[in-house]
Amino acid sequence: MNFDRLAPHYGWMELAFAGPLMQRCRTHFLTESGRFRRALLLGEGRGRFLLRLMKTNPHVRITCVEKSGAMVRCMLAKIKKSGLDPSRVDFQQMDALDWRARGRRYDLLATHFFLDCFTAETLEGLVMELAAAASPGATWLVSDFRVPDRGWRKWRARALLRLLYDFFWITTGLSARNLVPPGQYLRKAGFRLEDRRLENAGFAYSERWTLI
Ligand SMILES: C[S@@+](CC[C@H](N)C(=O)[O-])C[C@H]1O[C@@H](n2cnc3c(N)ncnc32)[C@H](O)[C@@H]1O
Repeated sequence: MNFDRLAPHYGWMELAFAGPLMQRCRTHFLTESGRFRRALLLGEGRGRFLLRLMKTNPHVRITCVEKSGAMVRCMLAKIKKSGLDPSRVDFQQMDALDWRARGRRYDLLATHFFLDCFTAETLEGLVMELAAAASPGATWLVSDFRVPDRGWRKWRARALLRLLYDFFWITTGLSARNLVPPGQYLRKAGFRLEDRRLENAGFAYSERWTLI
């Protein structure tokens, strides 16, 4: 799986496919969630959430785990262009599945349109490892796509997701072929769902979880 080839096109493709929807989901709970000191961002892509976080939380230090070198270079360029201090971000270009907390603790975890890259077999272990890096009371912001329970919304979401997964399979070699809802694993890891906002007839969501 490699997003390098897609990195230069990801921004305009997101806008063409979803308009402002995905950024609304990423940032919905950011302002009301208070100030953060240490944040862990996974699979951040071109860094639209990262930039907003740096601007709204001027003192936050960030660890950003991203496998694609092209995505990391894009984030660095955006930070510099915005006049923000790149030394606030520790970029770790690696597979999130190999990342270990090693005693580090974060009061914010953020995974936006990222947990959908994993199969059920790998997702639980990943969530457990990330949860081990959460400090007491930590916030975990999750946004992603979802399939509504019934009706035309369900069939539309299924069709759109089929298109998306096929597209990412062809362009990046993504091995996940279906959406696995991560909520059950966050609960198991000790997080409680505090708030949730559905978007686009239930096709996308933004969630705020807290470690209890
Ligand atoms: C669908 S994109 C989402 C990007 C961004 N978070 C967003 O909100 O649009 C998935 C991102 O996760 C990264 N990624 C996928 N699997 C990964 C893994 N196992 N470890 C680290 N990064 C990964 C990809 O390189 C890509 O940048």
